[in-house]
Amino acid sequence: MSKKVLILNGPNLNLLHKRDKEIYGDTSLAKIENECKQLAVELDLEVELKQSNSEGDLVNFIQDAIDNFDAIIINAAAYTHTSVAIRDALEMFHKPKIELHISNIFQREEFRQNSFLSGVVTAVISGLGTDGYTISLLAINNLLDQK
Ligand code: DQA
Repeated sequence: MSKKVLILNGPNLNLLHKRDKEIYGDTSLAKIENECKQLAVELDLEVELKQSNSEGDLVNFIQDAIDNFDAIIINAAAYTHTSVAIRDALEMFHKPKIELHISNIFQREEFRQNSFLSGVVTAVISGLGTDGYTISLLAINNLLDQK
């Protein structure tokens, strides 16, 4: 059976195509979902993409994933810099997990340079643009030892 990867997106990423193009490019979340689904077929992975603007929803998605998914890729967006609750939920997920950012958060405002999540994830990918989603999926594939 194919391994299952959950790709989680936080606040304002539903309107990715309307955000600052200099920082986030002009790809939509729907396009990213298509690219990830195509790659997943090649890698023999099952991919599900979820987005919410609410912190509690993201916590619930992570809790549900504990028994139902083999890996998580999470772009928690602004909650990266504020959410102890998302960190605590991720800490309970004992399988490969990647924190993803489209922009390089370490080159941006000081308040974005701290992540509450980095200490509890397997790896951080930040600054590769929206390609970071498929690159994260390839990395997850390696971490799941599907090479
Ligand atoms: C982001 C970076 C965050 O600081 C920001 O709040 C986002 C997107 C990124 O993908 O670069 O919404 O996570």
